Amino acid sequence: MFDTLVAAPPDPILGLTEAFKKDTNPKKVNLGVGVYKDAGGQTPVLKSVKRAEERILSAEQTKNYLPIEGNAEFDRATLELLFGAQHALVTTGRAVTAQAPGGTGALRVAADFIASTLGKRTVWLSDPTWPNHPNVFHAAGLATNTYPYFDKQRNAVNFAGMMDALATIPEGDVIVLHGCCHNPTGVDLSVAQWEAVAAVIAERKLLPVVDFAYQGFADGLSEDAAGLAVLADRGQEMLVASSYSKNFGLYNERVGALTVVGQDQSAAEITLSHIKRVIRANYSNPPSHGAAIVATVLTDAELRTIWEGEVQEMRDRINTMRHLFVETLHEKGVTQDFSFIANQRGMFSFSGLTPDQVKALRERYAIYIVGSGRISVAGMTEGNMEYLCSAIADVLNGA
Ligand code: LMR
Repeated sequence: MFDTLVAAPPDPILGLTEAFKKDTNPKKVNLGVGVYKDAGGQTPVLKSVKRAEERILSAEQTKNYLPIEGNAEFDRATLELLFGAQHALVTTGRAVTAQAPGGTGALRVAADFIASTLGKRTVWLSDPTWPNHPNVFHAAGLATNTYPYFDKQRNAVNFAGMMDALATIPEGDVIVLHGCCHNPTGVDLSVAQWEAVAAVIAERKLLPVVDFAYQGFADGLSEDAAGLAVLADRGQEMLVASSYSKNFGLYNERVGALTVVGQDQSAAEITLSHIKRVIRANYSNPPSHGAAIVATVLTDAELRTIWEGEVQEMRDRINTMRHLFVETLHEKGVTQDFSFIANQRGMFSFSGLTPDQVKALRERYAIYIVGSGRISVAGMTEGNMEYLCSAIADVLNGA
């Protein structure tokens, strides 16, 4: 059976990491996957996380299964982080959360729930979007389509184009929105734009799925939830796929959540019962450790203060790298305007580098960038900046 198979292409993001690991060039730089690097080029375990793990390991009494929807303390803390503990959605039980294996796992549970329970609806994705979005929805048997999002000339949101397209999406379809730090472009909607988008969603009776993987990486933990708050304050039904991979640095623990907002508590609970069926058929119940860490940190005043400081440190550092990148390119004699990168948000920017330039950077300099030209600014360090910018200058000059 297997000898007739032809190899599948490598994943456009994680496949780069595989190739990067095999690369023997000592100067190699990975700006592919969105993974944070500190000044020493490491992806550290946060102090708040280590402290929580010490507590968990000494107090743990059992390795018994978690419930299908995961750790209850984690689910509650996630709801409060998304909407605020006092928000009516939280206090009235209109929003409920199920733990999931990472943001990707949460998206897949959402996709399976939509396909199996709500029926075949088209899922509308921003153009461009994270390359794994279509895979996840297609794997659940859902069709996808796109709405315009990015204006390459202005390096900004193509808001008029987006609104025109949204007005034509058939009633009942699903629209995926990036909560903040749009991946791959690094450009986000303003609050006023979220208001306008929310109005069209309500008018056309669309179901928003908010992919919220970078809370805390743009302006701050609550500031970054401003778009979500616009939808929440309108009482909009929605699904939110959130992730702790980035803001807790818990990449390999696979910890995220799927949150449902219903019209009332009963609708939310009934929806959760369907989501539990989907989870049970998929991976039965989630792994414990990552969620225990998040629950411990978010519910302990001291650990939470440490964590909030660490999120701020990561955010500030990425912004410092954005500015240093623009300055260093300028020093290397690059005349093309890259100043927009300094103003973009989150881990990523759309650099405007062409596929040929991306290929040349990889083949000649062992610099790994996603084929679309998306660069992970979070992978830049003071140590690799000179090499990186000299290489980009060479490639842009056709050297
Ligand atoms: C990325 O876009 O680099 C991250 O979300 C990691 C991933 O799973 O692709």
